[in-house]
Amino acid sequence: MSILPILRFPDARLRRPCLPVGTVDAAVRQLAGDMLETMYHANGRGLAAPQVGVLRRLFVMDPDWKEGAPAPLAYVDPEILDAADAQHTGPEGCLSIPSVPVMVTRPEWVVLRWTGLDGQTQREKLTGAAAICAQHELDHLNGRLIIDLMDEGARCAASPCLAAMGGAA
Ligand code: NI
Repeated sequence: MSILPILRFPDARLRRPCLPVGTVDAAVRQLAGDMLETMYHANGRGLAAPQVGVLRRLFVMDPDWKEGAPAPLAYVDPEILDAADAQHTGPEGCLSIPSVPVMVTRPEWVVLRWTGLDGQTQREKLTGAAAICAQHELDHLNGRLIIDLMDEGARCAASPCLAAMGGAA
């Protein structure tokens, strides 16, 4: 496994919708392993393929590893089938936009369908930190970043940081 460079905002590749992975082969498993190693090394809880420059629908996450034992997960071609009406608001960070935490409101649970690294289709209701993390990472696969979800006040507060990184909210 190897640690991959993480793209930073405003890299244009972070804004592109990603293509389906399709068949899970050795190259996909290798990429997922490298992404997990990269995520842990960067002290993150989730990482999406476009953040390492691969424009495919794959993300990895381990939302609770800082509070317990590592439980690495990989999601290929994930889709949200259902989502809670009830919303959760909390701070989110992004390895591609360091030092710009954003308050984000999202459905508090989602039902996700995806392909595992064994090639099998899986389906699960995600709650708590896993639900929030999965939605954040799935947004990356559609070219959406947490700074797109800021309200006007947060946008004003964050704009000097974003300008210093070479981009605008
Ligand atoms: Ni992110």
